[in-house]
Amino acid sequence: MSSKAPIHLSLADITEEEEKAVLRAVRSGWVAPLGPEVDAFEQEVANRVGTAYGVALSSGTAALHLGLLCLGVGPGDVVITSTLTFAATVNAIIYTGAEPFFVDSHPTSGNMDPTILSEAIERLSTENKNVGAILPVDLLGKAADYTQILDIANSHEIPVLADAAESLGAHHSGKPAGSFGAAAAFSFNGNKIMTTSGGGMLVTNKSDVAEHARYLATQARQPTAHYEHTEVGFNYRMSNLLAAIGRAQLRRLDSMIARRQLWRHKYKELFAATPGVQIFGEANDEYDNAWLTAILVDESITGWSPRSLREHLAKEGIESRPLWKPMHLQPVFRSYPALINGTAETFFTQGITLPSGSSMSDTQFDRVRQTIARFLSSPSSA
Ligand SMILES: Cc1ncc(COP(=O)(O)O)c(C=O)c1O
Repeated sequence: MSSKAPIHLSLADITEEEEKAVLRAVRSGWVAPLGPEVDAFEQEVANRVGTAYGVALSSGTAALHLGLLCLGVGPGDVVITSTLTFAATVNAIIYTGAEPFFVDSHPTSGNMDPTILSEAIERLSTENKNVGAILPVDLLGKAADYTQILDIANSHEIPVLADAAESLGAHHSGKPAGSFGAAAAFSFNGNKIMTTSGGGMLVTNKSDVAEHARYLATQARQPTAHYEHTEVGFNYRMSNLLAAIGRAQLRRLDSMIARRQLWRHKYKELFAATPGVQIFGEANDEYDNAWLTAILVDESITGWSPRSLREHLAKEGIESRPLWKPMHLQPVFRSYPALINGTAETFFTQGITLPSGSSMSDTQFDRVRQTIARFLSSPSSA
Protein backbone atom coordinates (compact mmCIF):
# COMPACT_ATOMS: atom_id res chain seq x y z
CA MET A 1 0.00 0.00 0.00
CA SER A 2 1.13 3.54 -0.77
CA SER A 3 1.47 6.16 1.96
CA LYS A 4 0.52 8.84 -0.55
CA ALA A 5 -3.01 10.27 -0.70
CA PRO A 6 -5.11 8.08 -3.01
CA ILE A 7 -6.05 9.22 -6.50
CA HIS A 8 -9.48 7.99 -7.53
CA LEU A 9 -11.09 7.22 -10.88
CA SER A 10 -13.72 9.93 -10.72
CA LEU A 11 -14.51 11.87 -7.56
CA ALA A 12 -17.30 14.42 -7.21
CA ASP A 13 -16.09 17.89 -8.22
CA ILE A 14 -17.60 20.19 -5.59
CA THR A 15 -16.74 23.88 -5.17
CA GLU A 16 -18.02 26.93 -3.31
CA GLU A 17 -20.66 27.31 -6.02
CA GLU A 18 -22.36 24.09 -4.92
CA GLU A 19 -22.01 25.06 -1.23
CA LYS A 20 -23.74 28.37 -1.89
CA ALA A 21 -26.48 26.62 -3.87
CA VAL A 22 -27.29 24.19 -1.04
CA LEU A 23 -27.35 27.01 1.46
CA ARG A 24 -29.70 28.99 -0.78
CA ALA A 25 -32.04 26.00 -0.99
CA VAL A 26 -31.94 25.30 2.76
CA ARG A 27 -32.59 28.95 3.62
CA SER A 28 -35.50 29.11 1.18
CA GLY A 29 -37.36 26.62 3.39
CA TRP A 30 -38.10 24.29 0.45
CA VAL A 31 -36.78 21.05 1.92
CA ALA A 32 -39.76 18.72 1.98
CA PRO A 33 -38.72 17.46 -0.60
CA LEU A 34 -39.82 19.13 -3.88
CA GLY A 35 -39.56 22.86 -4.66
CA PRO A 36 -38.48 25.54 -7.13
CA GLU A 37 -34.89 24.24 -7.47
CA VAL A 38 -36.29 20.94 -8.81
CA ASP A 39 -38.51 22.74 -11.34
CA ALA A 40 -35.63 24.96 -12.48
CA PHE A 41 -33.16 22.05 -12.65
CA GLU A 42 -35.56 20.02 -14.79
CA GLN A 43 -35.99 22.92 -17.20
CA GLU A 44 -32.26 23.68 -17.36
CA VAL A 45 -31.25 20.06 -18.09
CA ALA A 46 -34.03 19.73 -20.69
CA ASN A 47 -32.85 23.00 -22.32
CA ARG A 48 -29.28 21.75 -22.39
CA VAL A 49 -30.31 18.46 -24.03
CA GLY A 50 -32.97 20.02 -26.27
CA THR A 51 -35.91 18.00 -24.96
CA ALA A 52 -39.26 19.41 -23.91
CA TYR A 53 -39.33 17.78 -20.46
CA GLY A 54 -37.10 16.61 -17.63
CA VAL A 55 -38.25 14.68 -14.56
CA ALA A 56 -35.73 14.86 -11.70
CA LEU A 57 -35.47 11.56 -9.82
CA SER A 58 -33.57 9.93 -6.96
CA SER A 59 -31.19 8.00 -9.26
CA GLY A 60 -30.37 7.05 -12.81
CA THR A 61 -31.69 3.57 -12.04
CA ALA A 62 -35.06 5.09 -11.07
CA ALA A 63 -35.03 7.03 -14.36
CA LEU A 64 -34.44 3.81 -16.32
CA HIS A 65 -37.12 1.95 -14.38
CA LEU A 66 -39.77 4.66 -14.85
CA GLY A 67 -38.69 5.22 -18.46
CA LEU A 68 -39.37 1.57 -19.26
CA LEU A 69 -42.70 1.55 -17.39
CA CYS A 70 -43.82 4.72 -19.18
CA LEU A 71 -43.04 3.12 -22.55
CA GLY A 72 -45.39 0.31 -21.56
CA VAL A 73 -42.73 -2.34 -20.82
CA GLY A 74 -43.87 -5.09 -18.47
CA PRO A 75 -44.11 -8.85 -17.88
CA GLY A 76 -43.97 -10.88 -21.11
CA ASP A 77 -41.81 -8.28 -22.91
CA VAL A 78 -38.18 -8.55 -23.91
CA VAL A 79 -35.88 -5.52 -23.69
CA ILE A 80 -32.78 -5.61 -25.88
CA THR A 81 -29.76 -4.01 -24.26
CA SER A 82 -25.98 -3.86 -24.44
CA THR A 83 -24.05 -6.56 -22.63
CA LEU A 84 -21.24 -4.10 -21.87
CA THR A 85 -22.86 -1.93 -19.22
CA PHE A 86 -23.28 -1.46 -15.49
CA ALA A 87 -25.75 -3.80 -13.78
CA ALA A 88 -28.22 -0.95 -13.09
CA THR A 89 -29.33 -1.02 -16.74
CA VAL A 90 -30.34 -4.67 -16.45
CA ASN A 91 -31.75 -4.37 -12.94
CA ALA A 92 -34.19 -1.72 -14.19
CA ILE A 93 -35.41 -4.08 -16.94
CA ILE A 94 -35.97 -6.86 -14.42
CA TYR A 95 -37.86 -4.54 -12.00
CA THR A 96 -40.52 -4.14 -14.72
CA GLY A 97 -41.04 -7.91 -15.02
CA ALA A 98 -39.59 -7.93 -18.56
CA GLU A 99 -36.68 -10.11 -19.66
CA PRO A 100 -33.33 -8.66 -20.87
CA PHE A 101 -31.71 -9.81 -24.13
CA PHE A 102 -28.00 -8.95 -24.38
CA VAL A 103 -26.26 -7.90 -27.58
CA ASP A 104 -22.53 -7.57 -28.06
CA SER A 105 -20.45 -4.45 -28.58
CA HIS A 106 -19.37 -2.64 -31.70
CA PRO A 107 -15.64 -3.40 -32.11
CA THR A 108 -14.50 0.23 -32.02
CA SER A 109 -16.94 2.17 -29.84
CA GLY A 110 -17.86 -0.64 -27.42
CA ASN A 111 -21.50 0.49 -27.63
CA MET A 112 -24.41 -1.67 -28.88
CA ASP A 113 -23.56 -3.12 -32.29
CA PRO A 114 -26.47 -2.20 -34.63
CA THR A 115 -25.87 -5.26 -36.84
CA ILE A 116 -26.24 -7.59 -33.87
CA LEU A 117 -29.28 -5.61 -32.73
CA SER A 118 -30.95 -6.40 -36.09
CA GLU A 119 -30.10 -10.08 -35.72
CA ALA A 120 -31.56 -10.07 -32.20
CA ILE A 121 -34.84 -8.54 -33.40
CA GLU A 122 -35.07 -11.14 -36.18
CA ARG A 123 -34.43 -13.99 -33.78
CA LEU A 124 -36.99 -12.72 -31.27
CA SER A 125 -39.55 -12.28 -34.00
CA THR A 126 -39.14 -15.91 -35.14
CA GLU A 127 -39.69 -16.90 -31.49
CA ASN A 128 -42.85 -14.75 -31.37
CA LYS A 129 -41.42 -12.66 -28.54
CA ASN A 130 -42.57 -9.07 -28.07
CA VAL A 131 -39.71 -6.57 -27.92
CA GLY A 132 -41.03 -3.91 -25.53
CA ALA A 133 -38.04 -1.55 -25.92
CA ILE A 134 -34.43 -1.22 -27.04
CA LEU A 135 -32.14 0.11 -24.32
CA PRO A 136 -28.75 1.19 -25.75
CA VAL A 137 -26.06 2.40 -23.32
CA ASP A 138 -23.71 5.35 -23.95
CA LEU A 139 -20.60 3.71 -22.57
CA LEU A 140 -18.03 5.83 -20.67
CA GLY A 141 -19.58 9.02 -22.07
CA LYS A 142 -19.71 8.17 -25.77
CA ALA A 143 -23.18 8.21 -27.37
CA ALA A 144 -24.25 4.98 -29.09
CA ASP A 145 -24.88 4.97 -32.86
CA TYR A 146 -28.43 6.31 -32.66
CA THR A 147 -28.57 6.95 -36.43
CA GLN A 148 -28.49 3.22 -37.11
CA ILE A 149 -30.23 2.10 -33.92
CA LEU A 150 -33.22 4.41 -34.49
CA ASP A 151 -33.46 3.36 -38.14
CA ILE A 152 -33.73 -0.26 -37.04
CA ALA A 153 -36.05 0.49 -34.10
CA ASN A 154 -38.37 2.68 -36.17
CA SER A 155 -38.66 0.11 -38.94
CA HIS A 156 -39.92 -2.39 -36.34
CA GLU A 157 -41.91 0.22 -34.36
CA ILE A 158 -39.98 -0.52 -31.17
CA PRO A 159 -39.45 2.38 -28.72
CA VAL A 160 -35.90 3.31 -27.68
CA LEU A 161 -34.96 4.34 -24.15
CA ALA A 162 -31.36 5.59 -24.01
CA ASP A 163 -29.20 4.82 -20.98
CA ALA A 164 -27.38 8.15 -21.04
CA ALA A 165 -26.26 7.79 -17.40
CA GLU A 166 -22.66 8.47 -18.39
CA SER A 167 -23.04 10.72 -21.45
CA LEU A 168 -24.45 14.12 -20.48
CA GLY A 169 -22.64 16.65 -22.68
CA ALA A 170 -21.70 14.13 -25.41
CA HIS A 171 -23.03 14.30 -29.00
CA HIS A 172 -23.92 12.01 -31.86
CA SER A 173 -24.25 13.51 -35.37
CA GLY A 174 -24.41 17.01 -33.90
CA LYS A 175 -27.24 16.22 -31.49
CA PRO A 176 -26.87 15.99 -27.70
CA ALA A 177 -26.81 12.64 -25.90
CA GLY A 178 -30.17 12.24 -24.20
CA SER A 179 -32.11 13.69 -27.15
CA PHE A 180 -32.45 10.37 -29.00
CA GLY A 181 -35.35 7.95 -28.87
CA ALA A 182 -38.57 8.18 -26.87
CA ALA A 183 -36.78 9.08 -23.64
CA ALA A 184 -33.34 8.97 -21.98
CA ALA A 185 -32.05 8.48 -18.45
CA PHE A 186 -29.19 10.49 -16.90
CA SER A 187 -27.39 9.66 -13.66
CA PHE A 188 -26.08 12.29 -11.25
CA ASN A 189 -24.35 9.77 -9.01
CA GLY A 190 -21.21 11.04 -7.24
CA ASN A 191 -18.81 9.57 -9.81
CA LYS A 192 -20.56 10.91 -12.92
CA ILE A 193 -19.66 13.83 -15.21
CA MET A 194 -21.78 16.01 -12.88
CA THR A 195 -23.48 15.08 -9.64
CA THR A 196 -26.30 15.89 -7.26
CA SER A 197 -24.57 13.52 -4.77
CA GLY A 198 -27.15 10.96 -5.87
CA GLY A 199 -29.85 11.50 -8.45
CA GLY A 200 -31.02 11.07 -12.00
CA MET A 201 -33.32 12.50 -14.63
CA LEU A 202 -35.65 11.18 -17.29
CA VAL A 203 -35.73 13.49 -20.33
CA THR A 204 -38.26 13.23 -23.15
CA ASN A 205 -40.23 15.16 -25.75
CA LYS A 206 -43.37 13.20 -24.90
CA SER A 207 -45.71 14.98 -22.49
CA ASP A 208 -47.50 11.72 -21.59
CA VAL A 209 -44.19 10.03 -20.63
CA ALA A 210 -43.10 13.00 -18.48
CA GLU A 211 -46.48 13.28 -16.79
CA HIS A 212 -46.75 9.57 -16.06
CA ALA A 213 -43.17 9.40 -14.75
CA ARG A 214 -43.86 12.32 -12.37
CA TYR A 215 -47.02 10.63 -11.15
CA LEU A 216 -45.39 7.20 -10.63
CA ALA A 217 -42.40 8.82 -8.90
CA THR A 218 -44.60 10.44 -6.26
CA GLN A 219 -46.38 7.26 -5.06
CA ALA A 220 -48.94 7.37 -7.91
CA ARG A 221 -51.17 9.73 -5.95
CA GLN A 222 -54.44 10.68 -7.57
CA PRO A 223 -55.28 14.38 -7.16
CA THR A 224 -57.58 13.87 -4.16
CA ALA A 225 -57.21 15.13 -0.58
CA HIS A 226 -57.49 11.59 0.83
CA TYR A 227 -54.68 10.05 -1.30
CA GLU A 228 -56.52 7.81 -3.75
CA HIS A 229 -54.33 5.20 -5.52
CA THR A 230 -55.19 3.20 -8.62
CA GLU A 231 -51.63 2.02 -9.41
CA VAL A 232 -48.53 1.00 -7.49
CA GLY A 233 -46.19 4.00 -7.28
CA PHE A 234 -42.65 4.73 -6.17
CA ASN A 235 -40.89 7.29 -3.99
CA TYR A 236 -38.40 8.31 -6.67
CA ARG A 237 -38.37 12.13 -6.72
CA MET A 238 -35.22 14.23 -6.30
CA SER A 239 -35.11 16.60 -3.34
CA ASN A 240 -34.97 20.37 -3.72
CA LEU A 241 -31.60 20.53 -1.90
CA LEU A 242 -29.98 18.11 -4.33
CA ALA A 243 -31.46 19.87 -7.34
CA ALA A 244 -29.73 23.06 -6.14
CA ILE A 245 -26.36 21.24 -6.28
CA GLY A 246 -27.29 19.99 -9.75
CA ARG A 247 -27.97 23.52 -11.02
CA ALA A 248 -24.56 24.71 -9.84
CA GLN A 249 -22.92 21.65 -11.43
CA LEU A 250 -24.74 22.17 -14.73
CA ARG A 251 -23.36 25.70 -14.95
CA ARG A 252 -19.85 24.20 -14.62
CA LEU A 253 -20.49 21.21 -16.89
CA ASP A 254 -18.54 22.46 -19.91
CA SER A 255 -15.46 23.33 -17.87
CA MET A 256 -15.62 19.93 -16.12
CA ILE A 257 -15.85 18.18 -19.51
CA ALA A 258 -12.91 20.23 -20.79
CA ARG A 259 -10.83 19.03 -17.84
CA ARG A 260 -11.67 15.37 -18.54
CA GLN A 261 -10.87 15.88 -22.21
CA LEU A 262 -7.50 17.29 -21.23
CA TRP A 263 -6.72 14.04 -19.35
CA ARG A 264 -7.87 12.05 -22.41
CA HIS A 265 -5.48 14.04 -24.58
CA LYS A 266 -2.58 13.55 -22.14
CA TYR A 267 -3.21 9.80 -21.84
CA LYS A 268 -3.20 9.62 -25.63
CA GLU A 269 0.23 11.27 -25.69
CA LEU A 270 1.50 9.07 -22.89
CA PHE A 271 0.60 5.80 -24.64
CA ALA A 272 1.28 6.97 -28.22
CA ALA A 273 4.63 5.20 -28.45
CA THR A 274 3.51 1.95 -26.80
CA PRO A 275 2.56 -0.71 -29.37
CA GLY A 276 -0.32 -2.88 -28.16
CA VAL A 277 -2.00 -0.12 -26.14
CA GLN A 278 -4.85 1.95 -27.53
CA ILE A 279 -7.31 4.39 -26.07
CA PHE A 280 -10.69 2.63 -25.81
CA GLY A 281 -13.28 3.91 -28.30
CA GLU A 282 -10.84 6.29 -29.93
CA ALA A 283 -11.25 5.05 -33.48
CA ASN A 284 -14.85 6.28 -33.37
CA ASP A 285 -14.28 10.02 -33.36
CA GLU A 286 -17.80 11.18 -32.47
CA TYR A 287 -17.70 13.84 -29.78
CA ASP A 288 -17.76 12.23 -26.34
CA ASN A 289 -17.61 13.79 -22.90
CA ALA A 290 -14.50 11.78 -21.87
CA TRP A 291 -16.23 10.77 -18.63
CA LEU A 292 -13.68 7.98 -18.13
CA THR A 293 -10.60 7.30 -20.21
CA ALA A 294 -9.88 3.61 -20.66
CA ILE A 295 -7.07 1.83 -22.47
CA LEU A 296 -7.03 -1.58 -24.14
CA VAL A 297 -3.90 -3.65 -23.59
CA ASP A 298 -3.07 -6.40 -26.06
CA GLU A 299 -0.76 -8.53 -23.93
CA SER A 300 0.48 -10.51 -26.96
CA ILE A 301 2.07 -7.27 -28.23
CA THR A 302 2.99 -5.43 -24.99
CA GLY A 303 4.38 -8.48 -23.20
CA TRP A 304 2.76 -7.25 -19.98
CA SER A 305 -0.77 -7.72 -18.71
CA PRO A 306 -3.44 -5.16 -17.83
CA ARG A 307 -3.41 -6.64 -14.34
CA SER A 308 0.32 -5.89 -13.89
CA LEU A 309 -0.23 -2.21 -14.72
CA ARG A 310 -3.23 -2.05 -12.37
CA GLU A 311 -1.21 -3.62 -9.56
CA HIS A 312 1.63 -1.15 -10.17
CA LEU A 313 -0.84 1.77 -9.96
CA ALA A 314 -2.47 0.35 -6.82
CA LYS A 315 0.93 0.20 -5.06
CA GLU A 316 1.18 3.94 -5.64
CA GLY A 317 -2.33 4.58 -4.32
CA ILE A 318 -3.80 5.14 -7.79
CA GLU A 319 -7.21 3.63 -8.51
CA SER A 320 -7.89 1.88 -11.82
CA ARG A 321 -10.44 -0.76 -12.78
CA PRO A 322 -11.11 -3.30 -15.48
CA LEU A 323 -13.85 -2.34 -17.96
CA TRP A 324 -17.33 -3.61 -16.95
CA LYS A 325 -17.68 -7.36 -16.76
CA PRO A 326 -20.28 -8.06 -19.50
CA MET A 327 -23.78 -8.76 -18.25
CA HIS A 328 -24.06 -12.15 -20.03
CA LEU A 329 -21.14 -13.34 -17.84
CA GLN A 330 -22.65 -12.13 -14.56
CA PRO A 331 -23.86 -15.03 -12.41
CA VAL A 332 -27.17 -13.24 -11.76
CA PHE A 333 -27.93 -12.61 -15.46
CA ARG A 334 -26.25 -15.63 -17.09
CA SER A 335 -29.50 -17.43 -17.84
CA TYR A 336 -30.90 -14.65 -20.06
CA PRO A 337 -30.64 -14.90 -23.86
CA ALA A 338 -27.82 -13.14 -25.69
CA LEU A 339 -26.12 -12.69 -29.07
CA ILE A 340 -22.42 -12.63 -28.33
CA ASN A 341 -19.33 -12.71 -30.57
CA GLY A 342 -16.62 -12.14 -27.96
CA THR A 343 -16.06 -8.39 -28.46
CA ALA A 344 -17.26 -7.27 -25.02
CA GLU A 345 -15.34 -10.14 -23.40
CA THR A 346 -12.14 -8.94 -25.09
CA PHE A 347 -12.78 -5.40 -23.80
CA PHE A 348 -13.26 -6.86 -20.33
CA THR A 349 -9.97 -8.77 -20.40
CA GLN A 350 -7.96 -6.00 -22.09
CA GLY A 351 -9.51 -2.85 -20.63
CA ILE A 352 -8.36 -0.59 -17.80
CA THR A 353 -10.17 2.59 -16.78
CA LEU A 354 -7.81 5.29 -15.53
CA PRO A 355 -8.23 8.29 -13.19
CA SER A 356 -10.27 10.82 -15.18
CA GLY A 357 -12.05 13.08 -12.66
CA SER A 358 -12.42 16.80 -13.28
CA SER A 359 -11.39 17.54 -9.69
CA MET A 360 -8.04 15.76 -10.17
CA SER A 361 -5.29 18.40 -9.82
CA ASP A 362 -2.44 18.89 -12.30
CA THR A 363 -0.06 17.58 -9.64
CA GLN A 364 -2.17 14.46 -9.11
CA PHE A 365 -2.33 13.81 -12.84
CA ASP A 366 1.42 14.22 -13.02
CA ARG A 367 1.78 11.53 -10.36
CA VAL A 368 -0.41 9.20 -12.44
CA ARG A 369 1.57 10.02 -15.59
CA GLN A 370 4.96 9.45 -13.97
CA THR A 371 3.81 6.20 -12.36
CA ILE A 372 2.62 4.87 -15.72
CA ALA A 373 5.76 6.14 -17.50
CA ARG A 374 7.96 4.29 -14.98
CA PHE A 375 5.97 1.12 -15.60
CA LEU A 376 6.20 1.46 -19.39
CA SER A 377 9.96 1.98 -19.30
CA SER A 378 10.49 -1.16 -17.24
CA PRO A 379 7.37 -3.34 -17.00
CA SER A 380 9.20 -6.46 -15.86
CA SER A 381 10.67 -4.78 -12.76
CA ALA A 382 7.32 -3.21 -11.70
C1 LIG B 1 -24.52 2.85 -17.60
C2 LIG B 1 -25.19 3.17 -16.30
N1 LIG B 1 -26.52 2.96 -16.18
C3 LIG B 1 -27.16 3.25 -15.04
C4 LIG B 1 -26.50 3.75 -13.94
C5 LIG B 1 -27.27 3.96 -12.70
O1 LIG B 1 -27.27 5.27 -12.22
P1 LIG B 1 -27.48 5.54 -10.66
O2 LIG B 1 -26.24 5.11 -9.94
O3 LIG B 1 -27.69 7.03 -10.60
O4 LIG B 1 -28.69 4.78 -10.24
C6 LIG B 1 -25.12 3.99 -14.02
C7 LIG B 1 -24.32 4.55 -12.91
O5 LIG B 1 -24.26 4.22 -11.80
C8 LIG B 1 -24.44 3.67 -15.22
O6 LIG B 1 -23.12 3.85 -15.33
